[in-house]
Amino acid sequence: MRVAVVGATGAVGSTVLGVMRERAFPAEEVVAFASRRSAGRSIDWGERDLEVQPLTEGEIQGFDLALFSAGGSVSEQWAPRFAEAGAVVVDNSSFWRMHDEVPLVVAEVNPEALDGHRGLVANPNCSTMQAAVALKPIHDAAGLERVIFSTYQSVSGTGQRAVEELHDQALAVLEAHELPAPTVYAHQIAFNVLPQVEHFVDGDDYTTEERKMMGETRKILDDQSIGISATCVRVPVYTSHSESINLQTREPLSCEQCRELLAAAPGVRVIDDPGEGLYPLAIDAAGQDEVLVGRVRRDPSHERCLNLWVVGDNLRKGAATNAVQLAELLAGRGLLFRSATV
Ligand SMILES: NC(=O)c1ccc[n+]([C@@H]2O[C@H](COP(=O)([O-])OP(=O)(O)OC[C@H]3O[C@@H](n4cnc5c(N)ncnc54)[C@H](OP(=O)(O)O)[C@@H]3O)[C@@H](O)[C@H]2O)c1
Repeated sequence: MRVAVVGATGAVGSTVLGVMRERAFPAEEVVAFASRRSAGRSIDWGERDLEVQPLTEGEIQGFDLALFSAGGSVSEQWAPRFAEAGAVVVDNSSFWRMHDEVPLVVAEVNPEALDGHRGLVANPNCSTMQAAVALKPIHDAAGLERVIFSTYQSVSGTGQRAVEELHDQALAVLEAHELPAPTVYAHQIAFNVLPQVEHFVDGDDYTTEERKMMGETRKILDDQSIGISATCVRVPVYTSHSESINLQTREPLSCEQCRELLAAAPGVRVIDDPGEGLYPLAIDAAGQDEVLVGRVRRDPSHERCLNLWVVGDNLRKGAATNAVQLAELLAGRGLLFRSATV
């Protein structure tokens, strides 16, 4: 199998390469693509290095699979070209996610959606991904009527430059130097909390990230009737998104039943002994593939409402691990081909 990794120098793309190696992904050849800025750079790939290629029409032929993590405009332009050239594309950007003909898939939640793909498969948004893994068993057992997300999202969710911005600002604060002007975020992120993840567009008072959480959750769970509201917040944490989820079920569900459902769910680890200080932490989720869930408790304001605290590594399960899992499912189920187009 010949695999293209597009955006291979970025926060997600480099994690994709790492996860492929960890899981011994059966690729005979891997080609790393990035922008012209990185062309010719070497990326460590175990026994040999990968030389970064720029995206050109001549270089994209002959792939079985293309894993894209290079932003929406690159995916808009290049993902259909890879698909036309015979690859199945798994795309990490938001560009194709809400297109009707493009399946939006979480490996543990709706793998059956891969069956009808037409050359393009979308990987969900990172905060939506971890929430969907936790919500799926609850939705199946008791039905979700309403969900309220409040997120605490790490800077690596914005990419490599944001990680550097937090580092540089934190160092400047600690060493009492003048702070460099923010270039990635609208405001200082070090020692601060920003109630804005992504952008406000067209006068909308929800951000694009909040709209993604609402729309993508309904698409993944295949239920447009779920009422969803989201507030997405950026916090000065390098890795892992944390989420407070308030949910209202259609059928009664006790905290004990909820914990049992979560404990049996694929991809979930329950850590829930708050009296002993045991609950999911961002630093514990970092580097892990499981979604950690704890603080399961009754919302005293409503008899069918529960609260959960859900934490996941945004670069791994929130992006790279799910993309590689989808690639494994596509290969394992004979869903790769060299002829379909979107
Ligand atoms: N970070 C997360 O937690 C996360 C989670 C889920 C989804 N995503 C999505 O994944 C994508 C990548 O995010 P990231 O955080 O990894 O960003 P990043 O760290 O900024 O990396 C961007 C990558 O795209 C490459 N690139 C940029 N312009 C390109 C072009 N014109 N042609 C080819 N390659 C180009 C960059 O190459 P150079 O190094 O040459 O600039 C780099 O490899 C985004 O769409 C993002 O929304 C991110």
